[in-house]
Amino acid sequence: TNMLSWQRTAYHFQPQKNWMNDPDGPMFYKGWYHLFYQYNPDAAVWGNITWGHSVSKDLINWLDLPFAMVPDHWYDINGVWTGSATLLPDGSIVMIYTGSTNESVQVQNVAFPANLSDPLLIDWFKYSGNPVLVPPPGIGAKDFRDPTTALQVSDKWRIVIGSRFNTTGIALVYETTDFLSYKLLDGLLHEVPTTGMWECVDFYPVSTTAANGLDTSVNGPGVKHVLKASLDDTKKDYYALGTYDSETNTWTPDDPELDVGIGIRYDYGKYYASKTFYDQNKKRRILWSWIGETDSETADIKKRWSGVQGIPRVVTFDKKTKTNVLQWPVQEVESLRHSSVEFDKVKVEAGSIIPLDVGTATQLDIIADLEIDSKALEGTIEADVIYNCSTSNGAAGRGALGPFGLLVLADESRSEQTAIYFYVAKGIDGHLTTFFCTDKSRSSKANDVGKEVYGSIVPVLDGERLTMRILVDHSITEAFAQKGRTCITSRVYPTQAIDGAARLFLFNNATQASVTVTSLKIWHMKSASIHPYPL
Ligand code: FRU
Repeated sequence: TNMLSWQRTAYHFQPQKNWMNDPDGPMFYKGWYHLFYQYNPDAAVWGNITWGHSVSKDLINWLDLPFAMVPDHWYDINGVWTGSATLLPDGSIVMIYTGSTNESVQVQNVAFPANLSDPLLIDWFKYSGNPVLVPPPGIGAKDFRDPTTALQVSDKWRIVIGSRFNTTGIALVYETTDFLSYKLLDGLLHEVPTTGMWECVDFYPVSTTAANGLDTSVNGPGVKHVLKASLDDTKKDYYALGTYDSETNTWTPDDPELDVGIGIRYDYGKYYASKTFYDQNKKRRILWSWIGETDSETADIKKRWSGVQGIPRVVTFDKKTKTNVLQWPVQEVESLRHSSVEFDKVKVEAGSIIPLDVGTATQLDIIADLEIDSKALEGTIEADVIYNCSTSNGAAGRGALGPFGLLVLADESRSEQTAIYFYVAKGIDGHLTTFFCTDKSRSSKANDVGKEVYGSIVPVLDGERLTMRILVDHSITEAFAQKGRTCITSRVYPTQAIDGAARLFLFNNATQASVTVTSLKIWHMKSASIHPYPL
């Protein structure tokens, strides 16, 4: 063990040691969920990129397998980069991934499982004709990467690859029948000026009517398509809802003002290079994401690891707002809940803090419903119409109707605390705007860690109560407002609020309104089991 070992997460997926970035090729096959990931076998910093491989029966407890692919051919010797799996109707699997060549050119390669009757898919072989794609004319040698899962349109398959023209982010589409030879389709799936290089594009359907997820090739009435790009310039994942016309091979956003890269994010904290897959086992679409560190590289080297995966989230279309998706931790995470503590109707007066006696508070699942005092809400004429989570002084900035919420990973004296909260602004016309934020400015006494205040607007419809869920796991918090309309993941590195010293508080820093926590349930979370598969 070393002095930073308490920072390791207990129920998020992470390798035993070293660097991890993007999730790759997630799928469900013969009873097992497979997760591959960008991995450096040699150090806690990016490099030597290899495909790590782990399998799980429940997306929570994992068995580590041997590396699936290592950089060993001229076409991927500088890295086996990000890629996606496609399950074909005949039961076979193709993996398409980006290789960085001996000259650092980005090319697309194909690999297959050596033995389809092995549910663990331990051995992979690379196609002898690799690479199957090189950057087309007009595309930079280093701007051509991260192929998606293929979708079927009549008897052909299409994959999407992210790139850029100068500062315009673009998505190219290739068509294939055999996954060995590909044709670039005319035009672009989509482009957005000023968004820069699009990494890890994801493209998938969501049902506007049904609760279940959709297989990647589904299209037609009652279907919208999500287009997601990971913006290399800012390291943020943006998505937009729209319509896919497979005839013209173009995707059109529902709202051009909320286009990819300028509108909505999956998560307003640390969340990047995400990828979905369709889980045919439980008929749902699941979102994985790399959650990097926000401490220093020196600290990563000292603690000997960097990067975790977010708890997988089920993604559905929000039928109430129709403007966003909902993201919610897979139900399986609830299998880690053991003892719980429940509080009934706690009133938090304006300007007060209430400690919650829950015992150890480093591994928690919290669900809180909150209600602002209606007299204060009505009596307030106008409040904070220019509020902004990141620039309005965080949890210390006091307004008439906020901030209020929870302090997690806090020590007894609150010399360290991470605030997760709502803030309500009221226009002169009576219109309410609700914000959901996470304030890391007091999260750690260390001075080499990020201390951002994250957040954004969260849609709240008439008659809805405010509700939030928070997963706490040592050095990570994942927060979900209004059942997953707005999400914030953050990495925090307390020096005092660790292990048995971590505490939990309710707070209300509003100047006028009291807040009633109408329901508050807190579960202690067991640790997940993540260890090598006994081969
Ligand atoms: C995103 C990314 C991808 C690339 C991979 C390399 O984090 O930069 O674009 O394929 O990581 O590790």
